[in-house]
Formats: sequence, C-alpha cells, structure tokens
Amino acid sequence: MPLVSTKEMFRKAYDGNYAVGAFNVNNMEIIQGITEAAASLNAPLILQVSAGARKYASHTYLVKLVEAAVAETGLPIALHLDHGADFEICKSCIEGGFTSVMIDGSHHAYEDNVALTKKVVEYAHAHGVMVEGELGQLAGIEDDVNVSAEDASYTNPEQVQDFVERTGVDSLAIAIGTSHGAFKFKPGQEPKLRFDILEDIAARLPGFPIVLHGASSVPQEFVKQVNAYGGNIPGAIGIPESELAKAAKMAVCKINIDSDLRLAMTASIRKYFAENPSHFDPRQYLAPARTAIRDMVAHKIVNVLGCDNKA
Ligand code: G3H
Ligand code: 13P
Ligand code: ZN
Repeated sequence: MPLVSTKEMFRKAYDGNYAVGAFNVNNMEIIQGITEAAASLNAPLILQVSAGARKYASHTYLVKLVEAAVAETGLPIALHLDHGADFEICKSCIEGGFTSVMIDGSHHAYEDNVALTKKVVEYAHAHGVMVEGELGQLAGIEDDVNVSAEDASYTNPEQVQDFVERTGVDSLAIAIGTSHGAFKFKPGQEPKLRFDILEDIAARLPGFPIVLHGASSVPQEFVKQVNAYGGNIPGAIGIPESELAKAAKMAVCKINIDSDLRLAMTASIRKYFAENPSHFDPRQYLAPARTAIRDMVAHKIVNVLGCDNKA
C-alpha cells in the first residue's frame, strides 16, 4: 500500500468519533517505535515532519524511512508537513511525495493568512495533496517561533466558516487551550480545553475535520524520570488526557503529539546511561528508547485517540 491521503482517514474519524494521532518524526528509531505501536493496535497513522526535522535528517531520508514503515506494516500512513511556514516549503514537500501539508498562516493578519492558505491549497489540490490551515495562536515553541502566553489567542468561531470557504482547506487547526512544548502551564494555571469554542466551531462546520496541536500531556512520571537521572525540567504539565479523549470523540480528527515522545525517549536514554555508564554502542540505548516511544504511542492510541482497530 502506498502512502495514503488524510481525506478518507478524516471522514472515517469524524463519523467514528475518534481521532488519528499525528506524531512528529526525526529518525529511524522514532518512526519504528510509532509504527510498531500502530501496527500492533491496527491504528491509522499520520507521521509528520517539521522544517527542523527536514533540516536534521533531510527530506529524502525521512520519506524513504516512512516508505519503509509502510512496506513493513501495511498500515494506512499519511506523510504530513507540520507547520509549513511559507508556500515554498509546502511546494517542496508536495513535489517530494508528502500526501498532506500544513500551511501555518496563524501568525499573519487574517487576510494574509487567507491569501497564503488559498495559494497553497490551489497548488496542493492540483497535485492531489490535502492541506491543513490554522486560525488562532497557540502558546509555546514550534520550530524557531516562540509565542508567549500573552500573545496566544483562542480561535474566533466567527471566522472559521469564512476561512474554510475562501481558502478551500481540508482541515483546520484551532487554538482552544493546548500549547506547544513541555512547558505549557505555570503553577496555579488550570490546564483545560475550551469545549464551548470547539462546540461552536463544530456547529459552524458540520462534518469538517478539526486539528489540535500542542496535545502532549507531559506525564509527570516521565518528567520525574528525566529529572531523576540528572535532568532539570521544572514543573511542566499539559492538558489532561481525559480532556483530549473527549475532544477526539467530537469534531477533532487529528491530534498532534511530539513532546511526550521526546520525554519518553530521553527518560529512557538517561536511565540507560545512569545504569550502564560505560556502554557506548548506540544500539544498546536506542533499542529501549524505541520501545519507550512504542509504549507511549500505544498508550495514546488507546487512551486518548480511540483509533485502535480503525486502520
Ligand atoms: O510543533 C512543533 C513540533 O513539536 C516540531 O518541533 O520544530 O522542534 O521539530 P520541531
Ligand atoms: P506538543 O509539543 O504538545 O507535543 O505538540 C506537538 C505539535 O503540535 C506538533 O505540531
Ligand atoms: Zn504544532
């Protein structure tokens, strides 16, 4: 089976009241860990690549690794550009075999976001590729852009219909309380989703797939594990998984998770070196790190996304 489009995936997710996990990939072990979990649970999958990942591993390596995962698992896997900043990177990924791209115009003024998104949609659709747009700004760090909590803004439901109609996007990322990275909420802040905004948006866009970014929950056992072996991640917390699971049953069809995988992988590697300080074969510490990613993804598929047995 070749790489698949997200169109059919999202239609099934919307009708079936679950979400598909979109996990960020940077190297072979991450791709293997994620796809092993999805294969064992028969779950559809979106593997996504940021500009930073393309810079780190190169476009060709990542595409070939993802193609290898498709060949090994036979799963429906879509390959997606995460946070495309401009037309050029979207074009390059469309020409380079991706089946979906995100054009993130959320930092621009509304009319500029519409114009940029529309331009990408026209090019992408001419090549059979799906497009995710974004309205509203999440707090946190993505690529080199750092949005402070003060500058973050919830999506305005009154804009969504106009945006979708004028741009022709296939899915829409919205800001309803999630944020990027591991440092999401300060002590005293309550991590919660604005279900009222999600409901309002869903009512204005019947049948239309909604995307949540910044959906790592930063499980405390992994923060503690990283810190226990010499790390220093202070007081990080995310939106509880139960709230994300509720959103997955609503109009949310794609949930982006990266930081939780990074935490799981790094916690495993730190533990390994604390226990085996003189080992130096990368396979020795990357194999358990890959297993940690697999277990985290399996946990998300069952407890957050609800997409097990939906491939
Ligand atoms: O939202 C951003 C993703 O976590 C990707 O992060 O740009 O560091 O690869 P990155
Ligand atoms: P997290 O940092 O919460 O994992 O979010 C990842 C993301 O939104 C990628 O686009
Ligand atoms: Zn994101």
